[in-house]
Amino acid sequence: MFARQKLYEGKAKIVYATDDPDVFLTHFKNDATAFNAQKRGQIAGKGEINAAISGHLFQLLEANSIPTHFIDRPTAEDMRVKAVKIIPLEVVVRNIAAGSLCQQTGLELGAVLKQPLVEFYYKNDALGDPLLTRDRLLLLELATPEQLDQLQQMALRINELLSAFFQQCGITLVDFKLEFGLDRNQQILLADEISPDTCRLWDQGETDPDRRVMDKDRFRRDLGDVEGAYQRVLERVLNQPVQP
Ligand code: C5P
Repeated sequence: MFARQKLYEGKAKIVYATDDPDVFLTHFKNDATAFNAQKRGQIAGKGEINAAISGHLFQLLEANSIPTHFIDRPTAEDMRVKAVKIIPLEVVVRNIAAGSLCQQTGLELGAVLKQPLVEFYYKNDALGDPLLTRDRLLLLELATPEQLDQLQQMALRINELLSAFFQQCGITLVDFKLEFGLDRNQQILLADEISPDTCRLWDQGETDPDRRVMDKDRFRRDLGDVEGAYQRVLERVLNQPVQP
């Protein structure tokens, strides 16, 4: 099976059609962007690292009854995935206040939330990916009320599973972004990637607020050693077996 037509090129990945209409091939790039692509750069080895971390985490979730688009990784930087139509929502789950939650609410960085917060952002670069209310989301018909409830439940269950997994890695899962898609039967599958590009991950062995950062905030905030941090996440993730 050879990759064919390019279907979509995003900031960090390229999606190709394959000979099988039910299968896409996702190529993970080394390109890094932040602040809606206003800041651009390259992180050496990132494609391979993010594909490996995502592959491992998708298998963990599948083993725990979360349907994902993951099939396998034919090469280090490529992932075969089930063909889905992406729902144009960025579903963010937060356990600890950071990033835009602090900027928009005044909550202090590091404040532990009493319960996980699930937020829906409109995946629309031209509009700057705005935070949506439930009513705006339904107004735009981005999902049905039933789908929205299902997305919320899946996001919370994924948070439980990933938080417990990262805990075993000595890493705190601060927050993360998910994307979902619909397959040809309208079943919702977890799609996209789960990696240090899309999660905030804090090293539990570090107390210094900059040194503990193991994710894309190192790139966003020019903290240095981005590759090293991603590599350390990869090593710890691969060290933990995938278990139901
Ligand atoms: O910037 P903000 O605090 O809203 O980001 C919340 C989480 O979602 C972070 O882990 C960030 O890496 C992730 N995110 C993402 N892609 C976006 C926006 C946020 O992966 N376009």
